[in-house]
Amino acid sequence: MVQQPQSKPLELVVADPSTGASCSIPVPNGVSKTQGMHASFVVLPTSESARDTLTVLDNRTNKVYTIPITDGTVKATDFRQVQDTTGEGLRLFDAGFVNTAVARSRITEIDGAKGILRYRGYPIEQLSEKSTFLEVAYLLIYGELPSKNQFDDFEYEVMHHTYVHVKLAELEQSFQYDAHPMGMFIATMAAASTFDPSGNPALAGSDIYTKDKKLRNKQIFRILGKVTTIAAMAYRHRIGRPANPPQQGLSYTENFLYMMDHLSEPGFRPHPVLARALDVLFILHADHELNCSTAAMRHIGSSLVDPYSAVAGAAAALYGPLHGGANEAVVRMLESIGTVDKIPAFIESVKRREKKLMGFGHRIYTSYDPRATIIRKLAYDVFEVVGTEPLIEVAQALEQVALTDEYFTSRKLYPNVDFYSGLIYKAMGFPLDYFPVLFAIPRVAGWLAHWSEAMDEPNAKIWRPRQIYCGEARRDYVPIEHRDETDVRLTEMTKTASSTRRRISSWEGKKPGKL
Ligand code: CMC
Repeated sequence: MVQQPQSKPLELVVADPSTGASCSIPVPNGVSKTQGMHASFVVLPTSESARDTLTVLDNRTNKVYTIPITDGTVKATDFRQVQDTTGEGLRLFDAGFVNTAVARSRITEIDGAKGILRYRGYPIEQLSEKSTFLEVAYLLIYGELPSKNQFDDFEYEVMHHTYVHVKLAELEQSFQYDAHPMGMFIATMAAASTFDPSGNPALAGSDIYTKDKKLRNKQIFRILGKVTTIAAMAYRHRIGRPANPPQQGLSYTENFLYMMDHLSEPGFRPHPVLARALDVLFILHADHELNCSTAAMRHIGSSLVDPYSAVAGAAAALYGPLHGGANEAVVRMLESIGTVDKIPAFIESVKRREKKLMGFGHRIYTSYDPRATIIRKLAYDVFEVVGTEPLIEVAQALEQVALTDEYFTSRKLYPNVDFYSGLIYKAMGFPLDYFPVLFAIPRVAGWLAHWSEAMDEPNAKIWRPRQIYCGEARRDYVPIEHRDETDVRLTEMTKTASSTRRRISSWEGKKPGKL
């Protein structure tokens, strides 16, 4: 039986989907004369008020459901009313969140087709030209550009929370000399939570961050302040130099470069062009709505854990080569290509799907990433003071080939933020494996903005997606002596010669030679 949409039309509009032709059939008492008909038909709402709805016809049951459309989206929970055999209602499947909105946010707007990026309404082009990273961090977190006094207070608080506990510094010292700095960064950030019991919801109360805005702000100052110190300490440890304590009287980015580079020179100041270039790069990387790491931040934060732990988790998501690790991967790719004449062979290998063109493609942008445009220009400012990075020639030639090749154009693959940023970092002398850290520092501002916004959400729920269970049905436990032997062995992994030597040795209860 056909049910009426909530708009209660007094007539049923029957449309032929193949021609678009339609006609009206009167529906006395909500019962259609088409009852029992086997033809396809579409129910269209006839009243204006019902236009912002989706009419869903379940072909399994011939039931019709009306789902409201708000802000261009339908609520997944509205589909629960579509009954199915499980009794739980219909679920939406979206592996990878390709077309699923998971939060209402007022922070960052992206128009991927037009290549537009705005923080709190301000175009990224204006912010990168006129603002500073710390001001942008304020804007992202608190929603407005700060007044002079507001900015002075914010800068004071952030810059006076740059010191870290001496035990945290010792923790960084304890890493292996060649530890990846991103691993050090993640671990140290997670460890920072242990120095702050009053900010630990397990000890101080599960609702401290949803209720206490002052505590929330304090954590924001602390994390923004300490993130550059933790990052600089990781760098200094790698190169075998003692950590520099933070300095007052320098900008956020200058202080970061100071902590990385100062030896014993009195009145040391980083070069202003490099400090500004890094500041602009920090602005460009500060937020990008619900990317993988920011979604991770919101996901982890939804459990109401402390923000240090959530930042550590978000940083782990950023570490991956498909996300923040891409800038490092771009330079390794350009180095492996080496010279312009090798580009055609490389492109062919990408088209054969043997390789990826790192720094190209984006889930949201189907046009040029506006950040890549700004960074490409910025690269030349940096080259002017430190010398040209020769791989820029390979990068530009590669971009030209890709932008005119059907494989990339048909898939709308354009350079993203990572395509040129790695070259600037390389020209500035940062080690390759430090690039993701340079991405993580400014992204902390975006993570905190999203975390704080989520803490203000009155109807927030813990994030808990559903699955489609595809595993075995119920089965009974079989004792090990009754199980079939199989060829599948977990020991069939790559072994080093030294591990083989050890494995074939003998000890009590084990004969020699068995791997
Ligand atoms: N090189 C070659 N082919 C690509 C690339 C690429 N960089 N990116 C996408 N494709 C192809 C992909 O193979 C697929 O082709 P087909 O439809 O024939 O199977 C099609 O384009 C769609 O790609 P997708 O993987 O379904 O797209 P996605 O939205 O899941 O992935 C992405 C987005 C950024 C992970 C992906 O484009 C990629 O791996 N790019 C390279 C890594 C990179 O530069 N990451 C940085 C992203 S921007 C900064 C950040 O978020 O951290």
